[in-house]
Amino acid sequence: MKEGMKKILELDSFSKVYGRGCLRCFEETGPEQTNICPCCRSVVAAHDVSFSLYQGEILGIMGESGSGKSTVVKCLYSDGQPTAGVATFYDNGQHHSLFDLNKAQQRQLRNQRFGMVYQNPNLGLNFDISAGGNIAERLLMSGDNNYGRIRQRARDLLRRTEVLPERMDEKPKNFSGGMQQRVQIAKALATDPPLLFLDEVTTGLDLSVQAAILDLILEIQHELQTAMIVVTHDLGVIRLLADRTLVMKYGRVIEAGLTDQILEDPQHAYTQRLVASAL
Ligand SMILES: Nc1ncnc2c1ncn2[C@@H]1O[C@H](COP(=O)(O)OP(=O)(O)OP(=O)(O)O)[C@@H](O)[C@H]1O
Ligand SMILES: [Mg+2]
Repeated sequence: MKEGMKKILELDSFSKVYGRGCLRCFEETGPEQTNICPCCRSVVAAHDVSFSLYQGEILGIMGESGSGKSTVVKCLYSDGQPTAGVATFYDNGQHHSLFDLNKAQQRQLRNQRFGMVYQNPNLGLNFDISAGGNIAERLLMSGDNNYGRIRQRARDLLRRTEVLPERMDEKPKNFSGGMQQRVQIAKALATDPPLLFLDEVTTGLDLSVQAAILDLILEIQHELQTAMIVVTHDLGVIRLLADRTLVMKYGRVIEAGLTDQILEDPQHAYTQRLVASAL
């Protein structure tokens, strides 16, 4: 299926426990139980999560609130420390072991090779500086310091994400929620990253605004061949965007495969309920 496609990311046996953990955490928690260890009360936010991601592919991570979706993405983006597992990022013939990076290496990958778009634009944007300034900041951090070039790039990115370039000097707090997400996407794309993380980016927006943002994401995938991990509890987002999907429950992957197959013929009772309730 993926012949000839380059692998960009591999996650192997990832776990994340919040709390001190104990020897029974993993056997006492799981999809049929809960994610809280009855012995030590630690939260097993994720356990034994593995997947590969290929260039240009969109992988969906779906599940209800608390299932561990954001935890996976946060640790890949160095926003949290994993408890166990190996993550390998393949980039231009080099590979990086994401859970073994020092702070400078983490910063470098986050600035230059990854993009992150959050549900809450406050996390992804600096509201004290202009939309263009947000993009400029990212370009400056990645080592560009040519004012004219940075400004032109910011203008191009805003145009591409359909934010009027005339508004580039306004602060994002003046913008609608949908426009703030567009600025976040423009900022994430500033350094042409091969890998984007999108965590509930359309949650809470009006349906028509959601549809336009989802279209933009698909266009970007087609144009730039950016690989993406899309985290959502919304089956509609998964259906539209994801080539393959992982379904998580209480920190475990209970179902994984091609999105079309999962939606047509879900194997796990939980996924069957999700699909049935979205019909
Ligand atoms: N910093 C933390 N300390 C303790 N527990 C945490 C922390 N962050 C997350 N958790 C717990 O880990 C579990 C997984 O959280 P996570 O945020 O990954 O879920 P999610 O699937 O992204 O949920 P949502 O759809 O609500 O965003 C939850 O039970 C959550 O309460
Ligand atoms: Mg989340």
